[in-house]
Amino acid sequence: MNHIETWSKLKNEEDVMNDHHAPFWRAMIREMTESDLHAASVLDFGCNQGGFLRTLYRIKPFRRGLGVDLAVKSLEVADALKGNMPIHYSTPEILDEMKEEIDAAFSHDVIYLLPDLRDHARRIKNVLRPNGVYYAATGCYAEMPLWPLWKKEVESYSNIPLPDYSINDFAEAFWAEGFDVAVQKCIPEGFVTCWEGREAYFPKVTDFLKYYDYKIIFRFSKKEEAA
Ligand SMILES: C[S@@+](CC[C@H](N)C(=O)[O-])C[C@H]1O[C@@H](n2cnc3c(N)ncnc32)[C@H](O)[C@@H]1O
Repeated sequence: MNHIETWSKLKNEEDVMNDHHAPFWRAMIREMTESDLHAASVLDFGCNQGGFLRTLYRIKPFRRGLGVDLAVKSLEVADALKGNMPIHYSTPEILDEMKEEIDAAFSHDVIYLLPDLRDHARRIKNVLRPNGVYYAATGCYAEMPLWPLWKKEVESYSNIPLPDYSINDFAEAFWAEGFDVAVQKCIPEGFVTCWEGREAYFPKVTDFLKYYDYKIIFRFSKKEEAA
């Protein structure tokens, strides 16, 4: 796919993602089954400004991190913020040159934007080591009651066209590539901030809580290939 400058046409939407997504990143890290990443190479697919990998590194330090995104300006921000963490940022073509180098891959609210899920599953399979895992979280799909509202809103500023997936489409793409598929809810710890001025996404305060019935983490695990 073509590179873009930033995913969102609105600078504010791009910048608030850090604050809005951080509780979900922590929930993904809490739910993952791997407790020690010291020897692991990790990938964040659709890393934007790099907040997920910085959060992961602080909670579970890893040996090497790679963040990829189509948005080149966001990658520049991520790179400027990484300090001395062992993280490299790049556009996604870098994955085409890699084979079985990643122990654990992640994506947060990215898979719903991808035009070809089967192709994505194939690429992730190619970069994961045997028995490697891919945690992909999203709440953006047809069965989520707020999705029609969200889709209209996100389409107004996204520099990437929005597909319209059913929750099963994600699982089917990874089953077709031979992955084991498991799911878990992605629920932040403690109290939930009711962001002011977000009525376009959460018309009622109760919607902040209802969303957690649908925000899920897939755990796609790559099976060892039969010899
Ligand atoms: C909703 S944002 C989520 C960003 C980040 N994962 C987070 O949790 O804040 C989606 C991101 O996916 C990126 N993206 C969309 N399609 C992509 C693709 N085909 N390859 C790589 N990145 C992609 C966008 O540029 C954007 O940065």
